[in-house]
Amino acid sequence: MILRTENLSKFFDGVKALYRVNIAVEKGKITLVIGPNGSGKTTLINVISGFYKADEGRVIFEGEEITNRMPHEISRLGILRTFQIPKALKKLTVLENVLIAPFNHGDSVYESISGRWIKKEVELLDKAFKILEFLKLDHLWDRKAQELSGGQLKLLETARALMRGAKLLIMDEPLSGVNPVLAEDILQSFVRMRGEVSFLIVEHRLDLVLKYVDYVYAMANGEVIAEGKGEEVVKDPRVVEVYIGAKN
Ligand SMILES: Nc1ncnc2c1ncn2[C@@H]1O[C@H](COP(=O)(O)OP(=O)(O)OP(=O)(O)O)[C@@H](O)[C@H]1O
Ligand SMILES: [Mg+2]
Repeated sequence: MILRTENLSKFFDGVKALYRVNIAVEKGKITLVIGPNGSGKTTLINVISGFYKADEGRVIFEGEEITNRMPHEISRLGILRTFQIPKALKKLTVLENVLIAPFNHGDSVYESISGRWIKKEVELLDKAFKILEFLKLDHLWDRKAQELSGGQLKLLETARALMRGAKLLIMDEPLSGVNPVLAEDILQSFVRMRGEVSFLIVEHRLDLVLKYVDYVYAMANGEVIAEGKGEEVVKDPRVVEVYIGAKN
């Protein structure tokens, strides 16, 4: 297990956005969180990644408690999140976007202006190209980010997270706005990466995602209401009920 939460709670003006949530992310696996709108999925990601403070409970990463640390400290540990709206710099190329990812944090200004940078640049280029090849983005390396499709931007976002040394990738709706063909490509690239990287994914498009994930948690009203293998969880009467309820 790479990450777990213990009785994690977050309240907004009396609303239980999260209430005593216990989830575990197995190392090298893809863990999916589902649930209707407003069930607390994004709040869970925000609390784990340090963007919101927990009101109760704990977050444990690689055996160490990280509850309520600052977001940059958490990302430095290797917990990286991608956002629903990709953050690539539009005027830079795909390769440049991947290369500058490490400078979001970590590397000192000293290193970048001193001689150490030159040797490092070669290593970084190698690493960036390996990551692009891995995600099948290498043929696009000299295109400007603004020329990419929505799905390709999501892959670029993933490339940037890998470049920054992700151990656990947390993704909020990585397939939203992505066409089904590219969505399958993206999911297959996650499967190829599984092992080196662990995944915690929030996604509504169950038709696409279920066959690729290892374990599923279903949430409603801030609580986990079911967990297990995908096929079982989506058939669980409690889960069926909250989805039907949400549509009315
Ligand atoms: N910053 C905030 N301030 C006040 N209330 C919030 C805040 N963020 C979330 N909430 C509330 O917490 C609850 C859970 O919201 P959250 O965004 O986590 O749901 P979600 O499962 O991600 O929904 P969706 O599927 O629509 O993205 C909702 O009632 C929401 O209104
Ligand atoms: Mg959300």
